[in-house]
Amino acid sequence: MKGLILSGGSGRRLRPLTHTSAKQLVPIANKPILHYVVEDLVSVGITDIGIVVGDTADEVRASVGDGSRWGAEVTYLEQEAPLGLAHAVLVARPFLADAPFAMYLGDNMFEDSLDEVVAGFEESGEAARLLLAHVDDPTAFGVADVDAAGRIVALEEKPADPPSDLALVGVYLFDARIHAAVDAIEPSARGELEITDAIQRLLEDGAPVAHRVLEGWWIDTGKKDPLLECNRLVLDALAGDGVVVDDEATVVDATLVGPVVVAAGARIVDATVGPSVAVGAGCRIESSTVDHSVLMEGSSVVGHHRVTASVLGREAAVVGSGAAVPSDLSVLLGDHSVVDVHGPAEESTGG
Ligand code: DAU
Repeated sequence: MKGLILSGGSGRRLRPLTHTSAKQLVPIANKPILHYVVEDLVSVGITDIGIVVGDTADEVRASVGDGSRWGAEVTYLEQEAPLGLAHAVLVARPFLADAPFAMYLGDNMFEDSLDEVVAGFEESGEAARLLLAHVDDPTAFGVADVDAAGRIVALEEKPADPPSDLALVGVYLFDARIHAAVDAIEPSARGELEITDAIQRLLEDGAPVAHRVLEGWWIDTGKKDPLLECNRLVLDALAGDGVVVDDEATVVDATLVGPVVVAAGARIVDATVGPSVAVGAGCRIESSTVDHSVLMEGSSVVGHHRVTASVLGREAAVVGSGAAVPSDLSVLLGDHSVVDVHGPAEESTGG
């Protein structure tokens, strides 16, 4: 079985973070999401992996390389524009040939073991095996209509009037029959070749489409709050209530409230950090409190701030003296951005 990871696309919903970098490379507990995806595939023995890339191809290549560090062999597949998930399958066809494959969206993470998902697929005769999860807002996803016997009868992408609360999770198993289905569909109203429509086509052709409903958490990390939630869940699993500080980080006069991870070269002085904070390499936190946040490489919070539920891009900074600011600061900062925070008291006296 081959692996196909989708790491193209534009990442509109994580802007400004993704103006400058790929959303699949945003770190969760200090590791890029895409690395978890590769590791998950390798853990079930899928080592022949194609990665579909777009505008951020160079960055993705630099981060993942040839896959050899995981014992995988990675082939990069260039998609000229994000024309849809089924378009990505079309682009990948020469790589996939007739092999069955696991398609994994590069911004999805889930708790259940992939092992149970792939078990027996190749012998099953199924054309597709889908993963579904109950969600609060089905209109943001592909949604399955399931009959009383538990069979999927129809699928719809981002329906205004969802037939159920069962969303399509971004992990799909296909055999070669998906290619004819992709050939048979037309672009959707949003101008994309939808994988949901291709699977609908399989259903209409009477091909067996199986599914299972996830038991653990699943997160499409493409927005700030789900991203922070994912960071929290992964930190919980990794560190429990613990604190994991790299040997080459400096922590002085600080309180770390687990779960917290601190990467090499980070400097935390006179600060309270945690819970649920990932401090990236070379970050600085001084005279501030930070909780429930992701601080990417080289970012900093300096000067009496209370930062919560925030994502700071690479080298981003919260500066100024936040001491007189009455409320917590919650921000999503793109790479290299600076927020200079001054309290009202300072403004009135500062001249
Ligand atoms: O996360 C699950 C959802 O993913 C499903 O419920 C939907 O049915 C499915 O269409 C998809 O919806 P999204 O709108 O969240 O897809 P998004 O545009 O975020 O793309 C998912 C990943 O695939 C992301 O890592 C970018 C990549 N991608 C996307 C497109 C459209 C590509 O590599 N090429 C593309 O052309």
